[in-house]
Amino acid sequence: MDDNQDYDLDKPIPATGLRQGLTSYGDAHFSLFLRKVFIKAAGYGEDALARPIIGIINTGSGFNPCHANVPQLMEAVKRGVQLNGGLAIEFPTISLHESFASPTSMFLRNLMSMDTEEMIKAQPLDVCIMIGGCDKTVPAQLMGGISANKPVLPLITGPMMPGSFLGQRIGACTDCRSSWAAYRAGTMDIEDISGINEELAPTVGTCGVMGTASTMACITAGLGLMPFSGAAAPAVSSARMRVAEQTGADAVKVASKLNERRPQTILSRESFLNAITVLQAIGGSTNAVVHLMAIVNRHPKVAGTITLRTFDEIGRKTPLLIDLKPSGDNYMNDFHNAGGMLALMHTLRPLLHLEALTITGETLGERLDAVPFKTFPYSVQLIRPLDNPLYPSSALVTLYGNLAPGGAILKAAASKDRSLLEYEGPAVVFENTADLAKRIDSDDLDVSPQSVLVLKSIGPIGNPGMPEAGVIPIPRKLKGVTDMLRLSDGRMSGTAGGTIILHISPESGIVDSPFGVLKDGDLIRCSLADRVLEVNLSDADIASRVQARKATLQQQNVALHGNRVVGTRKRGYRGLYETSVNQAEDGADFDFMTANGAETFERRSE
Ligand code: FES
Ligand code: MG
Repeated sequence: MDDNQDYDLDKPIPATGLRQGLTSYGDAHFSLFLRKVFIKAAGYGEDALARPIIGIINTGSGFNPCHANVPQLMEAVKRGVQLNGGLAIEFPTISLHESFASPTSMFLRNLMSMDTEEMIKAQPLDVCIMIGGCDKTVPAQLMGGISANKPVLPLITGPMMPGSFLGQRIGACTDCRSSWAAYRAGTMDIEDISGINEELAPTVGTCGVMGTASTMACITAGLGLMPFSGAAAPAVSSARMRVAEQTGADAVKVASKLNERRPQTILSRESFLNAITVLQAIGGSTNAVVHLMAIVNRHPKVAGTITLRTFDEIGRKTPLLIDLKPSGDNYMNDFHNAGGMLALMHTLRPLLHLEALTITGETLGERLDAVPFKTFPYSVQLIRPLDNPLYPSSALVTLYGNLAPGGAILKAAASKDRSLLEYEGPAVVFENTADLAKRIDSDDLDVSPQSVLVLKSIGPIGNPGMPEAGVIPIPRKLKGVTDMLRLSDGRMSGTAGGTIILHISPESGIVDSPFGVLKDGDLIRCSLADRVLEVNLSDADIASRVQARKATLQQQNVALHGNRVVGTRKRGYRGLYETSVNQAEDGADFDFMTANGAETFERRSE
């Protein structure tokens, strides 16, 4: 490369690599001259700088054990990039871990998506590899990557291995919950719960079951954005390092087709229909519904063509095939050993849109043709054939009714007492998590095994950040009861189970929400067959309760922002969050960040 070219004032500067976006000083040639001054400070020579620049997002953090293998992955990615003629340059974005992000990691997902989008756009990189894994990271990166619309290749950190306690395999986090429930119920002693605490997460990596992290990893493979083995290879395996090396090599190939491989070009409605088929077939996390809606709504050509009803329609045609916790018995490393996403995609072939494009430029069908999969007894035991599923259809369903005009989600496959799926019972209402904590184990709680437990104020606005508190604990006085119908406007962890209706919309943080005016004793009806969630109140009853609620809020001087109950207006990110987050069925994204977000700004300034 003749570097003098760059300083020839008569020649235009190509808009690739280091030469992108040279606007800072008005004089593009001077901007490039300065940029080279500073990058040379890091020791790069002209030859390196003339190559396609592959940015690598580093989401490692001391507070994120799910990403603790990022340094090794980075080394393997760089090897893949540089062996293929690219220049790898890493940079950080924020890092979110489920247990360490307060009030919830969901509260910060949109911030991470903005960080990701703006750093991809701001920096002179041609292609971006986004390393992530823990629950909210992959959604945030896909949202940001699609909005930035430079070619992006997700690289998943990978699931942890299961541990072992007294000869039994255990793993985060389905077994975290069942062990804690046993300790809470008095059937496990303090020594055992301490011993289990040592073994639930025995290696780095994401939770080792089909929780949100693994679900989003499988969905990303289903979208065609990464190698099939990139979803399930364990975090600590050599297979995972080879996926990283491969991702580096793929990124350099993508750099020669920059315009064709932008996410808004590759991803079509069909790509997302495939992703939803994968979600249903794996019995994936309910959280993925919210995340997928947020991701879809970032894509200008797909936004509005997929709704919660689409998930239900696809569910009716798609059987649950994967025998993994929490819906089944096994762990993610078993899924990997059984053939992982390659085996699943071959199995699902008749249900997939094979013409959907993938990051390599091939269609999904071409990718599958190129790598056949030979089944073996263990593979069909874990990844069932279509005609011998674990559950016939509709692992995840969408319910509507006067209690959820905007929809609600139920993971039917995770129900422990299936009689609750066609059920009517009286509500026992908790106004918020503090109320729940105060009364749930009280002897005075007026509750019976027939009751329907209701928890309000855990929606996107409500808490804020839609905490995973939807698995309301069974009241202690109902010892022996293992499942009850439970309702909330919040989420539940992808690793949890029970007959749990979630994401009720509008949430109770919206002033005229029917869910927000539920009272003790209201009769609630859930019907899986009819896809209905309703309460025995007329429209007029609901309207008069809403009026009464407004009057009470006014008396208490509680501030409303439009129709949102936000209390006192907050400063900073929280203020932005509470006034801008949309409802769960739209993805709980910020209204101004969606593909139609510009219209939101126009509306607000009217
Ligand atoms: Fe990170 Fe479960 S805590 S994936
Ligand atoms: Mg989780």
